[in-house]
Order: sequence, then C-alpha cells, then structure tokens
Amino acid sequence: MTKKYPLGKETVSALDGLSLFLPKGSFTVVLGRSGSGKTTLLRLLAGLEKPTEGRILLPEEISTRGRSAVGFVFQEPRLMPWLTAGENVAFALEGRLDKATIADRTASILAMLGLEAFRDAYPDQISGGMAQRIALGRTLALDPEVVLMDEPFGALDSFTRRRLQDEIAALHQRTGKTFLFVTHDVEEALALGETIVVLDAGRIADHLDIALPRPRETGCPEFLPLRRRVLEAIVGKTSLAEHR
Ligand SMILES: Nc1ncnc2c1ncn2[C@@H]1O[C@H](COP(=O)(O)OP(=O)(O)OP(=O)(O)O)[C@@H](O)[C@H]1O
Ligand SMILES: [Mg+2]
Repeated sequence: MTKKYPLGKETVSALDGLSLFLPKGSFTVVLGRSGSGKTTLLRLLAGLEKPTEGRILLPEEISTRGRSAVGFVFQEPRLMPWLTAGENVAFALEGRLDKATIADRTASILAMLGLEAFRDAYPDQISGGMAQRIALGRTLALDPEVVLMDEPFGALDSFTRRRLQDEIAALHQRTGKTFLFVTHDVEEALALGETIVVLDAGRIADHLDIALPRPRETGCPEFLPLRRRVLEAIVGKTSLAEHR
C-alpha cells in the first residue's frame, strides 16, 4: 500500500509501497520513529482511511462482519468521563445485544482484566493504567478478530507498562486473536513481538521473527543481537556506530 497526504503544494508519502501479511492469531509489533507511518498503517487497516494505491485483503470472517471485526486501542484511553468504567465497556454493545447479555459480557471482561472492583468508578477516579485497561476492555467487548493497538502504554510508568505488556501477551495466548501492536519502544517490541516489523519513512526497514516464549526477560544476553539488529534498522548502521 501507498498512502499519500497533501501537505501544502507537496505530498507526503506516509506509507510507501508497504506490503505486509498478518497470519491469523499472530502478534506483530510495528516499530519505528515518530513519523515513520505507524498510525497511518493502523488507520488504513481499521478502515478509517483508504490507501492511495494498493489494497487490503481481508479474510471472509472479517469482511462479512465489517468494522466491528477490527478493534482499535488508541494511545490515550479516550473514555467517556460521564460514564463509569463498566458503562464505558458496555457502551459499544448497546443496541447490538440485549441488556442481560451486555451485563454478562461486561462483567466477564472486567473480571478478565481484574477490574471488577472498579466497575462503578468514573474515569477521573482511576489511574492511567486502569483507564487503558478499560479502553482495552471496551475494544474486546466487541469480540474483534483483529486488535490494533497504537502505542497504548506510551503514557504509563515503566512498572505499569511491564505489567500490562505481560497481560497483553497472556491475553493473546488465551484468545488467539490477531494483534498488531505499534510502539516506538525497542524494549517493548522485544518483549511482545512474535514478529517485529521496523518501519522507516513508510517502508519496511526490517522484518524479524522472535521465536522466544513470553513473558520475556529482555535483559538476557540472547536479546543482544536482536536489539542491535532492530536498532540498526531504525537508525541505520552508520549512525548506530556514531552513537557509541
Ligand atoms: N492527516 C494527515 N495529513 C497530512 N499528513 C499526515 C496526516 N497523517 C499523517 N501524516 C504524515 O504522515 C507521516 C506518517 O505519520 P504517522 O502519524 O503515521 O506516523 P507515526 O509513525 O504514527 O508517528 P508517531 O510515532 O509520532 O505517532 C508523517 O510525516 C505525518 O506528518
Ligand atoms: Mg502515531
């Protein structure tokens, strides 16, 4: 796919001939610097925008279901402040299911995320990490086939972040859903990705598979060559040498 945006009299190529295959049930991390095209890729996959060239081929279980088959978790939780945590999770289901089913599903999602005790709390009464888990719960409530996450833990402290990374990995294991997780954090990518795709200026600079079980201790020596390879793809071999 190629995606061009007008910028004054010029055009910017946010994505430039990018080609990517996401196997069902895979966990792919898209890693890249600011402006490399990560959010653009997610927006195209979510159907929020159309590619300038190229196309997205969807399996039947997604194309027949439409938009609700693709869930999106944003960088900020974007909860509705006038609704409780439970109501925020239930909101997307309203009109789609009957009241009893909505209540059941909301309860099981809150339980899965360890948030039952906060069901009746309002967004300004919970922490940032909890709010982000609620936002994830809201997305999962629709039982999407694919979960797109755009730097969901970017605003969190490193301890909360580590914990939520482990939760996401466990959730992926348990549900078998397809995840595409965007980050600009190398450690986060190494901790989570079964596949890491490094984007640079809208192109794939590197593509590597990591066949190591999660949760991962990314400080271990076996991560050293992977970290170096990913960093080289992001900043380029020469500039990496200059950084030393
Ligand atoms: N709506 C838009 N109009 C014009 N240009 C855009 C638009 N959206 C994105 N771009 C441009 O496309 C390029 C890629 O942007 P994108 O938001 O995909 O990057 P990103 O990798 O998500 O960056 P960040 O890590 O900062 O979120 C940038 O040069 C950006 O300025
Ligand atoms: Mg972005």
